[in-house]
Parts: sequence; C-alpha cells; structure tokens
Amino acid sequence: MHTSSETKTSTRKGGRRQTRRCGFVPQDRRLLTHPCVLAYSLAEPQSEAGVVGCFEKKPDRLAMRAPASVADLIEETMGRDVQRVILVTGASSGIGRACAIALSRNGHTVYGTTRREPADVRAEVRRGVDPSCHLEFLRVDVTDTQAVQDAVGQILAASGRIDALINCAGFGNAGAIEDSTAADLLAVLDTNLLGTLRCCRAVLPQMRRQCSGTIVNISSIAGRMGIPFQGSYSASKHAVEGMTEALRMEVRPFGVNVVLVEPGDFKTGFTERRQITSLAKDNPVYASQMRRSLSVMEKDEQGGATPEPVARLVARILETASPRVRYVAGPVSEKVAAGLKRVLPSRWFERILMMYYRIDRGSQSGQSLDR
Ligand SMILES: NC(=O)c1ccc[n+]([C@@H]2O[C@H](COP(=O)([O-])OP(=O)(O)OC[C@H]3O[C@@H](n4cnc5c(N)ncnc54)[C@H](OP(=O)(O)O)[C@@H]3O)[C@@H](O)[C@H]2O)c1
Repeated sequence: MHTSSETKTSTRKGGRRQTRRCGFVPQDRRLLTHPCVLAYSLAEPQSEAGVVGCFEKKPDRLAMRAPASVADLIEETMGRDVQRVILVTGASSGIGRACAIALSRNGHTVYGTTRREPADVRAEVRRGVDPSCHLEFLRVDVTDTQAVQDAVGQILAASGRIDALINCAGFGNAGAIEDSTAADLLAVLDTNLLGTLRCCRAVLPQMRRQCSGTIVNISSIAGRMGIPFQGSYSASKHAVEGMTEALRMEVRPFGVNVVLVEPGDFKTGFTERRQITSLAKDNPVYASQMRRSLSVMEKDEQGGATPEPVARLVARILETASPRVRYVAGPVSEKVAAGLKRVLPSRWFERILMMYYRIDRGSQSGQSLDR
C-alpha cells in the first residue's frame, strides 16, 4: 500500500551523498534503501516507484539479491515474457529433445548438446520446428570437463548470457549389485552425476554474475527409491538429488533456482540404450529374476507416454519465480508410488516394489533363484 506523500531515498555516488524523491511511501520502508532499488533508481529515475511497488508484494525476493542485473529481476518479478538463453544437455533424443523443441517454440534461444555430429542432429531435431525458432546444437560429452566449459564459452560468446540449464544427458544400466563392478557404477556416475556437476559448475559463475538463472536437473523416480536391478542407476539419481538439494540452498542468495524433475516411465531412447553390466551377462544366479524385472520396466517405458509432458513441465518451471524443490512427472500411479514411499513403513513399500517387479520373495533355504 502506498500513500501519495513523498519520501526521500539516498545513496552515495562518487563519495557524495545524493538525496532523491520517491513519489510514494512503501509500507516496508527498508525497500527504499535496498541496494537493488537504489542501483536501479540511479539508472532509471522514473521507474523507481514501479520498482518499489513491485517488490512490496514480495520483499523477500529482493532481499535475497545482490544489486546487479536489476532490470532482469524486475522483468522477472513483473512477470513479463522474457526470452531466455537455455542450454539443454542430451537434446538429441527423448526428454532433452522434447525440452529443446518446446522451449525454442516458446521463443527462447536454445542450445542443445549431443555427442554426435551436431549438424546431423540439428537437421533431425529441427524437422517440423518453425525455421524462426532458435535451436542450435553443440558437440558435448558431459564426461569431458573441457568440452562442457568450451560449450558454455561458445554460448556466452554468441548470446552474452545463460538463463537456464536443463541437465538431461544420462543413461541407465541394469544388473544385480553383486554383478556390478566399481567400473560399472563409476561409468553411470560419470555421466548422470558428474556430468550434471560439470554443467552446473560451468554455468554458475555467469548465473551468479547475472543474479538470476534456473537449473533443472532431470532425476528420476529411481532418485526416490532403489529399483531392483537398477542399483547403480538408482545410486546415481539419489546422488543427483542430494547434490541438487545442497546446491539449491547455496545459490539461492545469488538469485539462482535449482530444481529436480523426477520423470516416471516415458517412451524414449532410454530403454534401447540401457546397458547391462558385464558380469550380469555371464552370471546365471540372478539371470531369470533380472529378466522378469527388466521386462516390467521395459514394458512400462515403451508403453509410456512420449516425453512432451516433461518438456511442458520444464517450461512451466522456468516461468515460476519460486519453484519447488522437486516435481514428479509421469502417470498418476507413479506419482502415487512416490507419495507412498514417504508415508508407508519401509518394509511395506519394499514388498510392494518386489511384487511389482516380480521378485520372488524367496527361498529361505538359500537355493538359487534361477529356475
Ligand atoms: N525415459 C524415462 O523413462 C526416464 C525416466 C526417468 C528419468 N529419465 C532420465 O531422463 C534423462 C534423459 O533420458 P531419456 O529418457 O531422454 O533418454 P534418451 O532418449 O536415451 O536420451 C539420452 C540423452 O542423453 C545424451 N547422453 C547420454 N550420455 C551422454 C554423455 N556422456 N554426454 C552427453 N550426452 C549424453 C544422449 O545424447 P547423445 O547420444 O546424442 O550424445 C541423449 O540425447 C536421463 O537423465 C534419464 O536418466 C528418463
């Protein structure tokens, strides 16, 4: 609420104290002396009243920010349509590809990554996308720190900023934990966890400079619960969740949002690319059990929806000023499962998962489960 009386705001410029007049009195008078308002009002004296008025509704948001890039902050807070510069990793296929297409159609400048020939992928993905949409591809393997840094450098050279990072690059591997070597686990961690880390580290200095940005880490339902015969993959996604929760709090004071999206089963290239751990190929102990569980997963994935709903969710998150920590994307049954994990006693939940993935509860006598 404003009154029409005038209020003085003051700041120092060139060592001299300057006093200027603001056309109203905000309810929270601290807003008048906040560095963001002062910085902006020095550059845009006419807009000061609008700025203070706009932040009066959400003073906390202003208090979190450093006094740079105020124009961005104001645009964002006033809910104007902003054209963003967005990096989507793993954009050649599946969820990443759907995100890259949807976001470029929404008018953003999108840079997708692939390990393949970027020109080929660009031609493939851009088919059916309006030629005026800005969607380019860069060659990046997220296990290569230098390649990630170079790609971000190229984006900054071309577009001057980076507003969002969507970490989609990833793959799954299957095999009983007993059949998974340290190398199997390291391989999936290198892409799913460290790849996400490398990309976050590459964009954060710029996002901190801008005092704004959103990072969306594509986790999985397997980041909430261990899935049998997907132990290494589940471990990688649990690690992504822990890292994201920590990062989110660390960069919040710089105006950067970090969000988890947990897809359920979607029909993408994920199923076909799933790797089988080397020992699982030769060890008969878990073979039939694993086949049964994997066939349930593959049926769910390939019978699932195409990934456009995840892309729409990501697009909505980018328009949200204060997004939640995590969003589940997928069929209702999978959203319910994620909720049940929180409320059910662990052993009950485990029993449900074992039934679902057709795991024989077994053999108390210790005989082989392979029959
Ligand atoms: N589909 C599902 O049901 C599902 C469910 C939960 C979570 N997810 C997660 O969603 C994300 C995307 O998976 P998707 O389903 O879209 O699978 P997808 O169709 O196989 O796409 C995976 C993408 O990741 C890229 N990629 C893989 N390894 C990479 C590396 N080392 N460096 C750079 N890019 C790499 C691939 O690109 P190139 O081969 O062109 O380099 C590809 O574009 C993954 O993190 C996955 O764990 C998927």
